[in-house]
Amino acid sequence: MVTEVFKTERDSYDILNKAARLLNDGALVAIPTETVYGLGANALNKDACLNIFKAKGRPSDNPLIVHIAEPSDAEKIAFTNHLYYLLADKFMPGPLTVILPKKAVIPSEVTAGLDSVAIRCPVHPVANALIKMAGIPIAAPSANSSGKPSPTTAQHVYDDMNGKIPLILDGGECDVGVESTVIKITDNEIVLLRPGAVTVNMLLEVCPNVSIAGAVKEELKSGETPLSPGMKYKHYAPTADLYLIDDKYINFIEFVKEKQKTESCAVMCYDEEIELLENKNLLPVGNRGDIKKQTKKLFILLREADKLGVDTVYAHLPSDEGESLAIYNRMIRACAHRVLGGINGKG
Ligand code: TXA
Ligand code: MG
Repeated sequence: MVTEVFKTERDSYDILNKAARLLNDGALVAIPTETVYGLGANALNKDACLNIFKAKGRPSDNPLIVHIAEPSDAEKIAFTNHLYYLLADKFMPGPLTVILPKKAVIPSEVTAGLDSVAIRCPVHPVANALIKMAGIPIAAPSANSSGKPSPTTAQHVYDDMNGKIPLILDGGECDVGVESTVIKITDNEIVLLRPGAVTVNMLLEVCPNVSIAGAVKEELKSGETPLSPGMKYKHYAPTADLYLIDDKYINFIEFVKEKQKTESCAVMCYDEEIELLENKNLLPVGNRGDIKKQTKKLFILLREADKLGVDTVYAHLPSDEGESLAIYNRMIRACAHRVLGGINGKG
């Protein structure tokens, strides 16, 4: 199959029309969103959705997120509640996914047999315009091959999906850079399953009862069933061994300089550390305090690390608080919990 790539904006009617037709015909289309690129299919078409799992090599027990154009479109596919609309008022459209009990129109293949469905209303103008034009809910996981970092540029999608899907809409680099915040809700309670740009503090402004699922920060215990199937898969793992250094306990610069002398390694350092290190395989992440930039560059740099062909990658252990929790969650899984130094240290 030939994979076409088109630069697309909100008013690229011809291209959006073509994409909407393909989706209605049961084909897959890669779509830019504000978080990461999604691999979209008609969420009401079981066979189209099964093709998502094939193209990604995704385990069939990992459910998909369904994307809608307006928060109230959730009524067609799920049983909403008061808290859903409080959250929608504040965070939709935007990088928040809410899990609710599902209605029968959503095929069980989409939700991997679960009786709940994950719903998201993206704010990206191309994604939003396309969902409206297609007139159907769009099931879309991140558009990477399973196990690779999520794609934040059309080139990343092309690298993973060339020959497997007919169309990639190129909407430029994604704003946020990591996937949406995923929460499960009841009438008066929020459980955070995956941290993203909508932070715990932001959720607390809407509902005082927010808890964080254990697997967000910790390894799953053997035999434990996660609240979200995606939590159990090794994700975002670069080919090289990634080590996180807790710089409260280890002098990052001294440690890494020694490694640079003896190992084939890459270093994800803060911008202000560039001049303190040997200028070899450095992957600057942004300034220490610039969490937004670090988030936006995270998956880009993990993909670059792969291309360098090094044996190891060293990076700072991110803070697990505030906006940084999303980076912490992705990095801790990318490194398979290999943390050097400190109370978490295993190395
Ligand atoms: O930002 C995003 O959320 C992107 C863009 C494309 O919207 N999508 C995305 O989808 O990251 P995906 O499939 O890569 O991640 C969805 C996560 C998985 O960890 C999955 O297990 C979880 O959401 N999930 C989906 N439906 C669920 C459900 N009914 N119950 C629990 N977890 C669910
Ligand atoms: Mg994904």
